[in-house]
Amino acid sequence: MILYKHFDTNDRGHLTVGGLDTVELAKKYGTPLYLLDEACIREQCRTYINSARKYFGEDALPLYASKALCFSEIYRIAAQEGMGVDCVSGGELYTAKKAGFPAERIYFHGNNKTDKDISDAMDMGVGTFVVDNEEELSAVSAMAQDRGITQRILLRITPGIDPHTHKAIVTGNVDSKFGNAIVTGQAMSIVKKAIATNGVCLVGLHCHIGSQIFDVEPFSDAARIMTQFIARIKDECGYEISELNLGGGLGVKYTKYDREVDYAQAIKDISEIVHGLCRENNIKMPRIILEPGRSLVAASGATLYTVGSVKEIPEFRNYISVDGGMPDNPRYALYQSQYTALIANRANEPADYRATIAGRCCESGDLLGENMEIQRAERGDILAVLVTGAYNYSMASNYNRLPRPPVVMIKDGADRLVVRRETYEDIVRNDI
Ligand code: LLP
Repeated sequence: MILYKHFDTNDRGHLTVGGLDTVELAKKYGTPLYLLDEACIREQCRTYINSARKYFGEDALPLYASKALCFSEIYRIAAQEGMGVDCVSGGELYTAKKAGFPAERIYFHGNNKTDKDISDAMDMGVGTFVVDNEEELSAVSAMAQDRGITQRILLRITPGIDPHTHKAIVTGNVDSKFGNAIVTGQAMSIVKKAIATNGVCLVGLHCHIGSQIFDVEPFSDAARIMTQFIARIKDECGYEISELNLGGGLGVKYTKYDREVDYAQAIKDISEIVHGLCRENNIKMPRIILEPGRSLVAASGATLYTVGSVKEIPEFRNYISVDGGMPDNPRYALYQSQYTALIANRANEPADYRATIAGRCCESGDLLGENMEIQRAERGDILAVLVTGAYNYSMASNYNRLPRPPVVMIKDGADRLVVRRETYEDIVRNDI
């Protein structure tokens, strides 16, 4: 086992994912190649669903934050597992719809929904809008009234939490493009407006404090602030908030240096705090919605590359160049995110070499990691980066006109293509 039970080695010394030989998969599909272990994704969905129901009550609903990894098959899996989903754009909504995801279980997010987004989402019958701001509230209300419907909404609230994570992925701060801060009075203002607005039904509040968070404390701080705010709404407006969406954000183990997260335990810990806070604040326990992305899909993934040049610069460093890079995984370039990499065709050899893994783009920042512990590499080797299920494929680009890799799902010892490899023809398709 390497980090997770679906990553292992076989008797040829090759890395396996879900029991399948990655070197054979690289031969069959080419590289770069995204692999996903389906059992791992389903298991994580079940952990969230079962724990949410057990600790928060039968009506609790985890949503899959589909920005983490988005294509048709993942919505089918989420639907089969009984999840809701969080969509943040017309494109995600369209994909969910094409995949047959039940629209009433979609929560539509985003800090700047266009009129077209709002209108398309209403035409689709999206169950819940998470309204970000007052202008959007007016737009949603107007379009709902035009259609003669009442749109179910949550309001996005910024509790003002610093979750001790990377600054660029902190979204619960007061100084944020997202939502309405409680301390500035803007949260209460939009709540009052929503209560008085026709065409919408305010059922609840939403907060999301950030991503890749390992401690329960920031979540309990957010829950405390949100439940106190719900109590204030009850006092000041005589209005009962019946749903509380606590967002996503639980962390994932990417390397042996990261902590293991017990998700069921984390949900239990957060639930105990929320139950206590509701009693303390004399409010009815709201229906709880959770919104994980990364922790549902990250661990399932691995990306395979073919090694090209291996360059050793004496007294500086060693570069291993691969046939992908920031276009298929921009997370090191953006956040210096740490990963585990290995040579898949010699996975049992000691990782006693230090290297920077470089991509193939014309950009010196196109790296997948620096100072990585890995086996010695040579041209033609298959290099695997593990735990790439979240925010890799979904953040991929065509920089340098590189076609996006395919996605292969592994289940019960069989592999199947769920997203095909882009072709050069795909890349010029929209050129005129
Ligand atoms: N809900 C909302 C409103 C969000 O904005 C996010 C993530 C989630 C849920 C899911 O959070 P998760 O469970 O995945 O942490 N591209 C960055 C991560 C950006 C997260 C954006 N929002 C990365 O690669 O680390």
